[in-house]
Amino acid sequence: MSENDQIVQFLKANPAFSLSMLEKEAGIPSGVLSKVLRGERKLNTDHIKLLRPVLYKYGLRHDDSPSKAKVISIVNHKGGVGKTTTAINLGKALTMMGKKVLLVDMDSQGNLSQGLGFDEPEKQVVDALLKEEPLPIFLVSENYDLSPSDLELAEADLELVQNIGGFNRLNKVLRPIKDQYDFILIDCPPSLNIITSSAMVAADSCLITLQPEIAAVKGLDKILTRIGNIQEEINEKLRVEGIVFTLVNKRLVVHQSNMEYVRESLPGFKIFDSMIRENVSLTEAQSAQMDIFSYAPDSNGAKDYYKLAEELLQN
Ligand SMILES: Nc1ncnc2c1ncn2[C@@H]1O[C@H](COP(=O)(O)OP(=O)(O)O)[C@@H](O)[C@H]1O
Ligand SMILES: [Mg+2]
Repeated sequence: MSENDQIVQFLKANPAFSLSMLEKEAGIPSGVLSKVLRGERKLNTDHIKLLRPVLYKYGLRHDDSPSKAKVISIVNHKGGVGKTTTAINLGKALTMMGKKVLLVDMDSQGNLSQGLGFDEPEKQVVDALLKEEPLPIFLVSENYDLSPSDLELAEADLELVQNIGGFNRLNKVLRPIKDQYDFILIDCPPSLNIITSSAMVAADSCLITLQPEIAAVKGLDKILTRIGNIQEEINEKLRVEGIVFTLVNKRLVVHQSNMEYVRESLPGFKIFDSMIRENVSLTEAQSAQMDIFSYAPDSNGAKDYYKLAEELLQN
């Protein structure tokens, strides 16, 4: 459900609220909310940003939406293109918008888990994949949970390939917990192996992080083909959430032209307007085992990931 629809649903369920009082408190023009309720227009991003804190105060919660979690796999078979950084910080930004988020570390390098302070998890994703145990879940902060991994996951590859249903294991262990979250973000390894495929089988959509370098852009068709295959063969509902440019240096002409090229050559795909600029605070935050909003709330990294989360909620 889009955030506009969620707000409409909340206002309709609470007819006692004075719309003009809410508009005044949020600082949005009077009359907007009644038009939105009549379906004559939609709230724009600025309205939603201003309304959000006011409505949370009056009880708007993520669980006003009865739907199950949206499961998004963050994919790219290249390493160092911002998948893990996006999982951590997009996830955190979504919690700041009242959503409950689970991050699932599906990379045996465990960067996601380490980046959140879980260096040697006592239980991890692989236990659920291979031993049919429930997915182990740890609280990182309010509404922000992690299912961690480390090197042990590397051993799961072969066993999953040899097992009937190996591709479906992650999907199976996520199923019973989906109604506890708004978003489940799966951080994938830098490879199109069975781990990434099983994340695609478990997902509603794939978010592709893409550095606007020529080599990265050239590899894009491989990812899109794999997503297409999984959709055709196993997971009909799978779609591409969108492509988000990461590690962008807007001053580089080559970055600008590569981004333009991707936009022009993939007209049928959502390319996020929000892009993640190169920002050293993002690396520092990861080393400090913090999300960017706790580490450097005024940094470009924090601004960019917040915007990306807002745009994702409009999707
Ligand atoms: N926008 C950014 N600006 C600067 N450094 C970044 C940015 N995004 C990621 N990094 C850094 O680049 C490295 C690779 O990013 P990471 O998210 O781990 O990529 P992946 O998960 O795709 O391998 C990490 O050290 C990370 O801190
Ligand atoms: Mg990674």
